[in-house]
Amino acid sequence: MAKHVQLISGTSNPELAGEISSYLNIPLTPVTIKRFNDGETYCHIEKSVRGHDLFLIQSTSPPVNENLIELLLITDALRRASAKEITAVIPYFGYSRQDRKALPREPISAKLVANMIERAGIDRVVTFDLHVDQIQGFFDIPVDNIESLPLIAEYILDKKLSNVVVVSPDAGGAKRARRLAKLLNASLAIIDKRRPKHGVAETVSLIGDAKGKTAILVDDIIDTAGTLASAAKLLSEKGAKEIYVCATHAVFSGPAIERLKNEMITEVIVTNTISLPKEKRIRKIRVISLAPLLAESIKRIYEGSPMGVLFEGIYNKLSKKAGYKNER
Ligand code: R5P
Repeated sequence: MAKHVQLISGTSNPELAGEISSYLNIPLTPVTIKRFNDGETYCHIEKSVRGHDLFLIQSTSPPVNENLIELLLITDALRRASAKEITAVIPYFGYSRQDRKALPREPISAKLVANMIERAGIDRVVTFDLHVDQIQGFFDIPVDNIESLPLIAEYILDKKLSNVVVVSPDAGGAKRARRLAKLLNASLAIIDKRRPKHGVAETVSLIGDAKGKTAILVDDIIDTAGTLASAAKLLSEKGAKEIYVCATHAVFSGPAIERLKNEMITEVIVTNTISLPKEKRIRKIRVISLAPLLAESIKRIYEGSPMGVLFEGIYNKLSKKAGYKNER
């Protein structure tokens, strides 16, 4: 890649940033990030960025507010240091679940965050599996919302599971589950989930059949794992033979790890949009790296070549493995 590109990272996911940097063979631009005694954040870019295209890698994962402020402050510093164009690579976009007013007098937090990012001086956003696609429209700058499902599907197909049903743990995730079912050439079922209050998930009934099948529960985010634990319980009551769970974003807060240890769940497949601390790396969790895909996306953005072709090879591979015709 040309010499006018720089990669820079906040502190949210140094492993992912390091992998991208190795893949592209571009060193990370050094940045000092400190906290003052009163909790304020300080940052200083340690190298000139004048006239360069910058890719700033920072997930707004927990601690969400700290990571968001880092993203904004680094952007401000880059802008004031005359960076030419700044792309925010935000593998996990925090606040994405607050995308509408569900009650009177609530904020639309995802929109406010989008405003803040844009106002700070970001020219383009690259992200993975936004909670809802409409969030792209909260920005007036280009947003590349990349999907991780093809990579997850490839991993699952390599297991050569039989009699598979892909299950959405709630109606909101039906489109995602349908997509995975198509990639795997499997059947589909949907769970009716209710949320009696914030952070509490209750599964009510299963639309479809899981008896004697291998169930693949798919969601975008695993936060407390309440949704998936409750869905796994229902699937087990409905006679599922084995249960796998997969999701793009492993937030894993509160009781998540304890819930995922449940013996009804054979394996948990996630990606590395969020850095997974050592204490949360239990044996049944499999992390798929998105670094090569992100690195290729960065390259294409910089070179001005189309992003669509990124997946061509993988769609061909998937259709061969799953035994259907690739009609894309
Ligand atoms: C909700 O609409 C999301 O898609 C996830 O189902 C939810 O955020 C998961 O949260 P938890 O793991 O805490 O149940």
